[in-house]
Amino acid sequence: MNNTSLVRKAQLAKKFSYSPYSKFRVGAALLTASGKIFTGCNIENSSFSLTVCAERTALFKAISEGQKKFTAIAIVSDAENYIPPCGACRQVMLELAPSMDVILTNSTGKIIVTKVKELIPYPFTKKFLHI
Ligand code: THU
Repeated sequence: MNNTSLVRKAQLAKKFSYSPYSKFRVGAALLTASGKIFTGCNIENSSFSLTVCAERTALFKAISEGQKKFTAIAIVSDAENYIPPCGACRQVMLELAPSMDVILTNSTGKIIVTKVKELIPYPFTKKFLHI
């Protein structure tokens, strides 16, 4: 599975975005080490803080089906600028998929490939809970 194919899967997932409040559609496609793909979209709520981002939807779907190792996640929106994961998603990615590539896209179809650890410097991790 190459980056372009993963981005295409994220674009398909974006179609399912439930975003009646922000109208900001996001899709994600997560690649496991075994080559499976789990997709996600953002799911909003009239109680706004209950909204779940596309990235976390994909990760939680995969974890809940027994997946443990991830190699990449592609994130797409309709925005002109590259869509970066929010802070909450970065924290969740660090916990569940610390070594994966994060593929950011813009509306022209260009991509940037970065790493979870690049996106969250000076992180709070489980090591602080075992002192
Ligand atoms: N959103 C995502 O799904 N992923 C991101 O990386 C950034 C933001 C969603 C949350 C909300 O439904 C909408 O985009 C606007 O914030």
